[in-house]
Amino acid sequence: VTIRVALVGGGFIAKAHAAALHALPVYFPDAPRLVPRLVCDVTEELARAAAARLGFEESAVGWEAAASRDDIDLVIVATPPDLHREIAVAAARAGKHVLCEKPLARNAAEAEEMCRAAEDAGVAAIVGFNLRQAPALQQALRMIADGSLGEVVHVTGRYFQDHGCDPARPLTWRYEADRAGSGALGDLGSHLLDLARECAGEIAEVTASARTVVPIRPAGSGQAGRVTVEDCAALLVRFASGATGVFEVSRVAPGRKNQLALEIHGQRGTLAFDWERNNELRWFSANDPNDRQGFRTLLAGPAHPSFAAPLPVPGIGVGFLETMVVQAAKVGRLVAGDRDAGASLALFHDGLQNCRVLDAALASSSSRTWVEVPP
Ligand SMILES: NC(=O)c1ccc[n+]([C@@H]2O[C@H](COP(=O)([O-])OP(=O)(O)OC[C@H]3O[C@@H](n4cnc5c(N)ncnc54)[C@H](O)[C@@H]3O)[C@@H](O)[C@H]2O)c1
Repeated sequence: VTIRVALVGGGFIAKAHAAALHALPVYFPDAPRLVPRLVCDVTEELARAAAARLGFEESAVGWEAAASRDDIDLVIVATPPDLHREIAVAAARAGKHVLCEKPLARNAAEAEEMCRAAEDAGVAAIVGFNLRQAPALQQALRMIADGSLGEVVHVTGRYFQDHGCDPARPLTWRYEADRAGSGALGDLGSHLLDLARECAGEIAEVTASARTVVPIRPAGSGQAGRVTVEDCAALLVRFASGATGVFEVSRVAPGRKNQLALEIHGQRGTLAFDWERNNELRWFSANDPNDRQGFRTLLAGPAHPSFAAPLPVPGIGVGFLETMVVQAAKVGRLVAGDRDAGASLALFHDGLQNCRVLDAALASSSSRTWVEVPP
């Protein structure tokens, strides 16, 4: 089976998608091939350069060709969030399968429309929560599911980066509410809350406090532009299960480059993960004898779900790119009709629920009250 791909947007994350498509047949010779056919960007020059750089057969200006051309089966939406809804809905209505980058949309209303369009069209509709595919995280989910921890009592997590610290960093779409929907919440919190939901189920209620730390940034040609999204936010949540959660997101945490850290506390054990050491899962079991209790470190390897390395050797380690390759393999299988392949992918309805939590966090921060998340 071959699946012909249009990639919309030739920017930062497009490079990782392209690399994953090229690596796919090497890592997964038995998976359907995802053929890099068309790449779209805003100008002729950008689109052509992207096609040459990313190894796509053809290029087009604007996103419309991705949805309208007959020789495309799967559209990867890798634009800023303000275009996700329009592109995904048009692609689905044209019968294309869609892999849309996170956050699924700027808000839950847009995400709902995308869910409906995909459902009506009967196409596969996936959100690019690739970090899920880290083998240490997949192993954590397996241990939660098999009862190793007992019932999950509370979850704590943070996603910290520091690229927003520098006030000279220009005002891109990531700092504009009408383009991004939100700031650190949608950019980083979306990944973190997706994982938290995988670990502990639906989030029922949220209270949050969000803040813009650098309010003005250079907006080109000497102009100053206003930042209209939050740089950091703190959330307290109640899961439907009764478990509690504390989460924090920031792009202004000096020294934290990509600290997606998650700790899951069950009645009989604890799991801890940090993306900056992403091949490690730390595990404490209260079932160990008293005199030798303590955290041990499981090193990601072929024994763990979603481990895919060029060489299948324990301890060799995998990284961000491998999560994209594994995601691409599962997307290909799902598109080819293998429903099971979708089990560990985030689908549009997962992305919608994620947007509802983000919306609730922003609403809570404005109202200074607890906000319920619609189920
Ligand atoms: N999964 C991840 O870990 C991850 C990491 C980074 C970004 N992302 C997500 O990917 C998306 C894109 O982020 P990015 O960092 O690549 O942004 P970017 O600004 O680097 O790239 C966006 C690209 O889209 C193009 N574009 C804009 N309007 C377009 C249009 N009308 N038609 C065609 N192309 C258009 C831009 O020219 C640019 O090339 C966002 O939703 C972001 O949240 C996900």
